[in-house]
Order: sequence, then C-alpha cells, then structure tokens
Amino acid sequence: MIFLPVLFTTLLAATSAAAASTNTTTSSFPSTLNITTITAHNNQSALECWALDPGYTTSAQAGVSGTAMLPLGPITGNATNILIPGNYDGGRHNAPTIQWVIFLSGVAHITLPNSTDEAWVIGGRNGAILALDTAEVSTQGHYTVYPTEESTLVWEVPLVEVPGHRVLYKRACGGAEV
Ligand SMILES: *[C@@H]1O[C@H](CO)[C@@H](O)[C@H](O)[C@H]1NC(C)=O
Ligand SMILES: *[C@@H]1O[C@H](CO)[C@@H](O)[C@H](O)[C@H]1NC(C)=O
Ligand SMILES: *[C@@H]1O[C@H](CO)[C@@H](O)[C@H](O)[C@H]1NC(C)=O
Ligand SMILES: *[C@@H]1O[C@H](CO)[C@@H](O)[C@H](O)[C@H]1NC(C)=O
Ligand SMILES: *[C@@H]1O[C@H](CO)[C@@H](O)[C@H](O)[C@H]1NC(C)=O
Repeated sequence: MIFLPVLFTTLLAATSAAAASTNTTTSSFPSTLNITTITAHNNQSALECWALDPGYTTSAQAGVSGTAMLPLGPITGNATNILIPGNYDGGRHNAPTIQWVIFLSGVAHITLPNSTDEAWVIGGRNGAILALDTAEVSTQGHYTVYPTEESTLVWEVPLVEVPGHRVLYKRACGGAEV
C-alpha cells in the first residue's frame, strides 16, 4: 500500500490545478465561429466561409456560467444521426432542407458542378458546416464523397432560417479561419 500516499498527493495536485483553472475569462475566446457554408447564387451551389453573427457572449447558463456561448439558430423537424461507411460516394445532390451538417468523424470532400472550389471537412472539432443549397435555390446541388477508409458519423439538424452571418470569403473556410 506504499503507493497510496503518492496517489493521494497526485489527486490533491490535480484538484488544486482544476481549481486554479476555473473561470478563465471569455476574453481569451475568439469573437465568433467561422463556418464553411454550401450556399447558392444564380441557381448554382457555391462554397463560402461565413462568420456567424451574433458571435460569442458570456453565458449565464447553469453548469457553463461565465463561459463563451454562441447561438446556432432555431431548429425544426427531426435531427438525424447518419453512419456513412468509408469509401462512399454520395453523388450529386441538393441539401434536403437548410440544415447544420455536423461531421463527428471521417472525412468529407465536397465539390461543385460548375466551379473548381472544394471543401475538405474533417470530422470533429471543426466538423460543422451549413448546407443551404436546396433544390429551390440550386439546380444541380453539390457532390460529396467520403474518400477515406474511416466511417463518417454525421448529424443533420434542420433549421427554421439561415443563421445570421457575415460572408468572409467566397470559398470554404481554411485552416486560418477555424
Ligand atoms: C465562476 O463564475 C461564476 C459566474 O460568474 C460564479 O458563479 C462561480 O462562483 C465562479 N466559480 C469560481 C470557482 O470562481
Ligand atoms: C419526426 O420523426 C417521427 C418518427 O419518424 C415522425 O413521426 C415525425 O413526423 C417526424 N417529424 C417531422 C417534423 O418530420
Ligand atoms: C454546369 O455544369 C454542367 C455540367 O457539370 C453543365 O451541363 C452546365 O451547362 C453548367 N452550367 C453553367 C451555368 O455553367
Ligand atoms: C433555376 O433553374 C430552374 C430550372 O432548373 C428554373 O426553373 C428556375 O426558374 C431557376 N431559378 C432562378 C432563380 O434562376
Ligand atoms: C475567423 O476568420 C477571421 C478572418 O479570417 C479570423 O480573423 C478569425 O480569427 C477567425 N476565427 C476563428 C475562431 O478562427
């Protein structure tokens, strides 16, 4: 049982470290979230990098009080969990409805019929995009393929309206924007 005091000391150290790191001010957070968006202009799908507006504010919500919070907009209908195998070709399609598409794992490669623009979406921390190119606004939609061996876990969350935003770039967000 010689290791018990060591364990106890380690726990104490971990506890005081946690206490010291509580309530980091929100000034250390970015001002907003930049999101790759599949939008449409003149009946054609297009990729853009959007900065959501409004951006982060300090939360008063129990459990995350004092942290940075940002609204993702009002949602509608059923959210969906989709499991896509590796090496899957989703083909050309329109967004079924305006929605958040949140890639939790895998890799999605998005391309366009009438442009050389493309987006590589890596599942995880920066895996959320907006897919807004419904058939009403885009004749041909976009292509999505999942070119790696890894399966893709994705959540689709249908939206009531397009979230407030500023257009940063007429292309997908890059490494510098997320
Ligand atoms: C962190 O901030 C919240 C809200 O400002 C406050 O209620 C809480 O007591 C703070 N926690 C610590 C450990 O200071
Ligand atoms: C949500 O899914 C349930 C179960 O499939 C279905 O009965 C319901 O109509 C759906 N709601 C909407 C708004 O699509
Ligand atoms: C878009 O590309 C398709 C083929 O991918 C072509 O048939 C169509 O004419 C193009 N439309 C425009 C407006 O460039
Ligand atoms: C988009 O194209 C469809 C045919 O594919 C056409 O019916 C519609 O009027 C076009 N809309 C706009 C805004 O150009
Ligand atoms: C969003 O993009 C802007 C403009 O490129 C950049 O200044 C900002 O740091 C980015 N935000 C994040 C969270 O990366």
